[in-house]
Amino acid sequence: MPEFRPRIVAFVCNWCTYAGADLTGTSRMKYSPQVSIIRFPCTGRIDFMLLLKAFANGADGIIVSGCHPNDCHYSSGNFHARRRWIVFRALLDFLGIDVRRIQFSWVSAAEGAKWARLVNETAERIHGLGPFTDYHRLRGMGVE
Ligand code: FES
Repeated sequence: MPEFRPRIVAFVCNWCTYAGADLTGTSRMKYSPQVSIIRFPCTGRIDFMLLLKAFANGADGIIVSGCHPNDCHYSSGNFHARRRWIVFRALLDFLGIDVRRIQFSWVSAAEGAKWARLVNETAERIHGLGPFTDYHRLRGMGVE
């Protein structure tokens, strides 16, 4: 049986975390290659239904990351995202999705090392949880 390699989707804001991930690469820091990055203007623009869609389409784990509190380039987008995350956690419980499959974080443009650590720790945790196998249930509910 082939070794389980978790697929992680990272929803990040353009101004901080994406730049931080870029710094990780330009600094030649190594981190898990199992992450696919999707860039948004701001975490405030991330519709949390997209997270469910990612699970329905094969993700085993998800990272949501943006600017630190008070550093959002649109002033309060990250605070909106944090509030939505609190509500979304309750929805995950209702759907029976282990909340440990999603990591919410702040990574600035200067924190390349933090990005690498975040991805590696998330990949390790998801590896321990095993593959996400409830995608068919999400699809049955119309999440595609
Ligand atoms: Fe980064 Fe808003 S611009 S979280």
